[in-house]
Parts: sequence; structure tokens; C-alpha cells
Amino acid sequence: MPKVAPSLLAANFAHLQKDIEMVNQSEADWFHLDVMDGRFVPNISYGIPVIKAIKKYAKKPLDTHLMIVEPDKYIMDFIKVGADILTVHYEACSHLHRTVQAIKNEGIQAGVSLNPHTPIAVLEDVILYLDLVLIMSVNPGFGGQTFIENTYKKVLQLRDLIDKSGSRALIEIDGGITEENGHKLVAAGADVLVAGSTVFKSKNPQETIRKLKYR
Ligand code: DX5
Ligand code: ZN
Repeated sequence: MPKVAPSLLAANFAHLQKDIEMVNQSEADWFHLDVMDGRFVPNISYGIPVIKAIKKYAKKPLDTHLMIVEPDKYIMDFIKVGADILTVHYEACSHLHRTVQAIKNEGIQAGVSLNPHTPIAVLEDVILYLDLVLIMSVNPGFGGQTFIENTYKKVLQLRDLIDKSGSRALIEIDGGITEENGHKLVAAGADVLVAGSTVFKSKNPQETIRKLKYR
């Protein structure tokens, strides 16, 4: 059974506490938090003070997805406000091994995310150090986009790399996840499903979370 991480990007920011409580009381496993800087991606979302506020109410781990350039500068800030998992983009890091070590040295989990055009093979020499690999199944920057079908192939390739290397990294998929493609991704080897629109725009978000998890 996969972990489910609702993305608060699709929540109602005017009633964030209400949406946080919904996730607290649901069968979701993590909160997925999308940080966008308007440079790495063509959109700006929210940052450190908002995450600090979320942390006060969230009763599940904060899975923090940094879509920002030079993430090294802000690692400590995100850890201080309560990030439990910190994921950086491969494409934003010149010294990825160093960045991953910097996160892990603080005692939290480290993830690396790949854009849709970035092949799985670039992770070969760092996979053993990772707690999580986040495969983007849309181009990062916006919620509500259409799932890219090439993602299935990447999940199979990553599953193979993880199993052959002995890495314990979880495979997380992010972007355009629905109940239907979610189940196919889990069958291909995904461990964590991120879902924004599918959860928050549904009539019964808690039921949708349950369906993503149990079918
Ligand atoms: C996109 C973000 C996603 C986004 C997913 O750049 O990384 O986490 O919130 O939203 P949906 O599920 O609506 O595609
Ligand atoms: Zn995300």
C-alpha cells in the first residue's frame, strides 16, 4: 500500500488550518509542501514563514519539495521551521552529493527530484545516500497539469536501480496523479503518491485519500 502525500498547493490558503485538520484526520501519511521561487520554476508559491505556521497544526511529517535555485542556502531555515523530509532538484544542484549530505547531517531525510526530461541514470552515483527520489510527472511549477505517460518507464527504471544498488530510497511521484494512474504507478513500483487537485478539488477529500491508498 502506498503512502499518500496531499499537496497543500491545492488547498484553500484562506482556510489553511481547516485543510490541515482534514489531512490530520485522514489516512494520508505526509503533508507535501511545494516551495517555488519564480526562478527554478515560473511560479512563486509560499516559503519559510508559511511552513512554520503549518507546522503548528500538522500532525504528520512535512514532505518539503524545494523547487528553488541554490537550495543549499536555505536548508537550515527549512529544517528550523520543521521540515521532516527535504527534497532538492537534481537540476538545481551543482554539488548534489554535498547538498544531500548537508541535509542528512541535520538528522532529517533527504530526497532528490528529477524533472520530466532528466533521466534516472543521473542518480547512479548518489542513490545509496538518498532516502527518497521524487519523479516529477509534470513540469514543476503548477498544480492541476496533465500526467506525463513517460513516467511509468522511469518508475520501472528507478525501481531497478534501487533494487540493484541496495538503496532504501522511496519512490515518490508528483504531478497529475489521479486514482487511476495512481494505482498503475504503485503497480510499477511507486511508494508515495503526491496529489493536489485530485484530493482538494474532490467532493470528499478524505474518501479520495483512502481510495488512493487502498484502491
Ligand atoms: C508541481 C508540484 C506538485 C503539485 C501537484 O510543481 O510539485 O506537488 O502540487 O499538483 P497536482 O496533483 O494538482 O498535479
Ligand atoms: Zn511537489
